[in-house]
Amino acid sequence: MCPPCAKQYEVIDGILIMKAEFNGPNAAAAGFYDGPLWQKFKFWERVFFWFQGGERRGRNQYMKHLPIKPGEMLGVSAIGAGNDLNFVPETCPVVGVDISVIQLKECLKRFPKRDLTLVLGEAERFPMPDRSVDHSLSAGGFNFFNEPIQSLREMVRITRPGGTIVVSDEMPETGAKAQQKPMAKKWVEKTFGDDFSKVVFDRGTLPLNDVFSAAFSNWKMHSLWRGSGYCAVATVMEADHEALKRPAPTVAGSPS
Ligand SMILES: C[S@@+](CC[C@H](N)C(=O)[O-])C[C@H]1O[C@@H](n2cnc3c(N)ncnc32)[C@H](O)[C@@H]1O
Repeated sequence: MCPPCAKQYEVIDGILIMKAEFNGPNAAAAGFYDGPLWQKFKFWERVFFWFQGGERRGRNQYMKHLPIKPGEMLGVSAIGAGNDLNFVPETCPVVGVDISVIQLKECLKRFPKRDLTLVLGEAERFPMPDRSVDHSLSAGGFNFFNEPIQSLREMVRITRPGGTIVVSDEMPETGAKAQQKPMAKKWVEKTFGDDFSKVVFDRGTLPLNDVFSAAFSNWKMHSLWRGSGYCAVATVMEADHEALKRPAPTVAGSPS
């Protein structure tokens, strides 16, 4: 059951189905992560991390900001195949949401012994009560969420005051710059497919600082991967929870 809305959801093959059809950028992302192009992209992801000294070192650049202790509960938006769970103590219960059923199945297969609740749904709506997790994490999907600010507010809602939220991704302008160079543009279109590459280009001007300031009152930006990525680290404040009672601020240049 989803405690905030008291709705019952079906569980299929160990995955709670909150929502299975998406629109806008979320639909484009689901098409990519559930489709054949994703398998090919894995190669480029490995190359990327190789330049960062390996995947463990590359991911540690943001995971070191998550102060999770054994037994603490973690909420993960866009958990994918769960690559970051290798950094989280095994005794920590984890709730992860993702729009890709293929990624969630892979995650379940990789961590059969973990206390893991996986949800097919969107980062914009988490099936968890207010203040029910100690910390929240989102790595690698944030720039392309339908509603980035709503997803941050949702992370605030489920995280207790004093908890930490870590959000990491590539710098959005990488997409905008690629669009200006014919060879790079072609590579993006071939790698991500027609629908998702449009989202990558469109979000090239996402104003990160304003977006994070719209949801977090106590946060800091860190640069990762020699400037090609970022990581926003927030400590959840009582004031952030209070702000959820008001409509989300609008931010020029960002979807809500
Ligand atoms: C690059 S992968 C990152 C996965 C994992 N966090 C990691 O670091 O390996 C991006 C993930 O975001 C998911 N995603 C994209 N938009 C989403 C949304 N609005 N809500 C939930 N998941 C989303 C995709 O399905 C994909 O699994």
